Amino acid sequence: MKPRHFLTLNSLSRDELLSIINRAEQLKKQFIEKNYETTLKSRVLGMIFEKSSTRTRVSFEAGMAQLGGHAIYLSPTGTQIGRGEPVKDTARVLSNMVDCIMLRTFEHEKIEQFAAYSSVPVINGLSDSYHPCQLLADLLTFYEKRGSIEGKKVVWFGDGNNMCHSYMNAAKIFDFQLVVSGPEGFDPDQEIFAATKDNVVIERDPEQAAKNADVIVTDVWASMGQEEEQNERMQKFAKYQVNSDLMECANGDALFMHCLPAHRGEEVSENVLEGPQSVVWEEAGNRLHSQKALLEFLIA
Ligand code: CP
Ligand code: NVA
Repeated sequence: MKPRHFLTLNSLSRDELLSIINRAEQLKKQFIEKNYETTLKSRVLGMIFEKSSTRTRVSFEAGMAQLGGHAIYLSPTGTQIGRGEPVKDTARVLSNMVDCIMLRTFEHEKIEQFAAYSSVPVINGLSDSYHPCQLLADLLTFYEKRGSIEGKKVVWFGDGNNMCHSYMNAAKIFDFQLVVSGPEGFDPDQEIFAATKDNVVIERDPEQAAKNADVIVTDVWASMGQEEEQNERMQKFAKYQVNSDLMECANGDALFMHCLPAHRGEEVSENVLEGPQSVVWEEAGNRLHSQKALLEFLIA
């Protein structure tokens, strides 16, 4: 039987995603009570990181331990991956040893190729194109705070990047309105836009975009791998900084989200990040619970 993978949010149906979010809420209660169900006893997750990570690594590793299993961290330095062993070989070798593989890398095609050769579930832990695990946590956070996201207005500020693409997928699947507001030349991918256009609009004017928003979300202006564009991007994105003036254009009870790490004074001001509408710390914590539910869904 072919394994199920989680390469983008579209890998799972709306009902499957909702069942993961519901299960994450139960797992969160168990975590708070320190009363763990070891549903993945003796199961092993391999984690390949070709880019840096704090949240993704710790949430997957802690999550596997709490479920009774184990996680192995693999980086290009110290493994044969960095010495050029082909993806398709690594995928088949690891498939014979572990129960699930998480991969964080650059080209999304690499994750697709990995999944094509893997006989165990593959999870996208971030590619240049998507970050679906973060969306599980963001959706869980919204559901906990506000209930169903259907029909709500979410505004994305900044780069049309991996996070933005995953928000676009989420908008279509969960039927909310997504407004993407950033400078010309940094729009999301055209194909993803075409596939989600009933739920996504582009609005260049940030104040106009923020009007009636239920959620304001942003991310770094230069993603991992784009470090040399940092200075150019700082100038081009300046008017899309989420600060208190922009938050005032949104609904009074709008939530502020950010996948983190955040660059204070760039895409978000210190007072918004640390302010009363910001849910970023819970959002980050929800990576743990939502990914545990995902691991159970894919492995158990
Ligand atoms: N949000 C997120 O994926 O964080 P890390 O890069 O620390 O894993
Ligand atoms: N867009 C960011 C997300 C980091 C979690 C990046 O790819 O670096």
